[in-house]
Amino acid sequence: MKTSWGSWVEGHEVAASSVYTVVHKYTGDPLAEVAEADADLIDRAVLSAERALKKPVSVHRRAEILEKAAVLLGEEAEDMALTMAREAGKPLKDARAEVARGQQTLRYSSVAARTLHGEEVPVRGNPGSEGRVALTLRKPYGVVLAITPFNFPLNLVLHKVGPALAGGNAVVLKPAPATPLTALKLARIFQRAGLPDGWLNVVTGARAEIGAQLVAHPGVKLISFTGSAAVGQTIRKNAGLRPVLLELGNNSANIVHRDADLEMAARVLAARAYGYAGQVCISVQRMYVERSVYQPFKTLLTEAVRNLKVGNPEDPETDVGPMISEAAAERAMAWTEEALGQGARAVLSGTRSGPLVAPVLLENVAPSMQVMAEEVFAPLAGLVPYDEFSEAIAWANQSRYGLQAGVFTQSLDVAFQAAQQLEVGGVMINDSSAYRADNMPYGGVKDSGIGREGPEHAILEMTYPTVMVVNLRG
Ligand code: SIN
Repeated sequence: MKTSWGSWVEGHEVAASSVYTVVHKYTGDPLAEVAEADADLIDRAVLSAERALKKPVSVHRRAEILEKAAVLLGEEAEDMALTMAREAGKPLKDARAEVARGQQTLRYSSVAARTLHGEEVPVRGNPGSEGRVALTLRKPYGVVLAITPFNFPLNLVLHKVGPALAGGNAVVLKPAPATPLTALKLARIFQRAGLPDGWLNVVTGARAEIGAQLVAHPGVKLISFTGSAAVGQTIRKNAGLRPVLLELGNNSANIVHRDADLEMAARVLAARAYGYAGQVCISVQRMYVERSVYQPFKTLLTEAVRNLKVGNPEDPETDVGPMISEAAAERAMAWTEEALGQGARAVLSGTRSGPLVAPVLLENVAPSMQVMAEEVFAPLAGLVPYDEFSEAIAWANQSRYGLQAGVFTQSLDVAFQAAQQLEVGGVMINDSSAYRADNMPYGGVKDSGIGREGPEHAILEMTYPTVMVVNLRG
């Protein structure tokens, strides 16, 4: 197994003068030494992308490359899944599902490349414009900087790289320091799929300044970031007038109405609150349950959570693997203790062993507690009873975030009321907030970000229209 990795610039591995160690998130064993990019390497990566843009690749060729990458990813599925299980601590079954999703994202990106189009603008309705025809042409911004998180080291990378390439941009990718190996393997897959050198560059490193240096680079023309709201705000502040796409956090609300299929709701919400240790931006965090079904739902939920298997992510049966670091696990326990100190009650109290945290389920929680107000990104959720549906909506909206929400109900009226009134980018009916199909428009409002992912939506964000007006009488 390769244990020393450079960054990836202009189709080649590039070493740096220093390295850092990527560890197995469950065992803590070293997996690899990875290049710690310095200012020179960062510059080379951006220049490499700028050079690539000078030799445009045709639309149909870009589409073919994306399709081929999906095929090659399928051939490497098990290696990619194991790599994610090890470097991200992602349970193998989730990692395998992520590879299949990554293939879908590539296929949708290929379709987006082939179908991207401008429009005719009916300017002839303006007095004096009778002889004119106006068309919009969509053009790439140039070098796209993609900064990606640890939790989906493959598919969230592809949600940036796929549409960026589809739209004719070259990419400089900065993967999360904890999970660079999946991205580095992906770069090689793209090369084998026929992507010419320089169109995808991967800058690795754990130094906090790397992201800032990339954002500050004048060669970067658009920034797409997934991560915390705090970092997103800093990037936006430093980006100047360049477009910035932000997929940030959430403290996802899920509502269980009195007419819900309680058994189904409990099973789904248990899986999506605690699966992958809750480290998904749309993980179930706040559950609002109509008072008349609160007790039976709590019993069903507790039973469903107890059936989840906590442990080694390489075990295909595991549901809840380790958190990304021991520090993250310590923070989850500290927030739990704080909530208990402020009057919360533990239905499931959770225990910590290194980075592994067993599910925590709290009730008697207040909106002001960190476990409710902030994004926990941990296997930690809270239960709240409500009397009126409008009360549940108001509590759900009492958040600085607005990414996705879930509502369990048999009533179409309630479903539409929720979709209209919840201040989020997506409302899932009879499913949890954590549902996502890769062609959906995905993104939030408020502190959850700006812009939408999903290849056919992201390609519009990553290209701009130029209107061409032809004066036929000229
Ligand atoms: C995220 O954590 O924002 C990604 C969720 C997903 O793609 O399922």
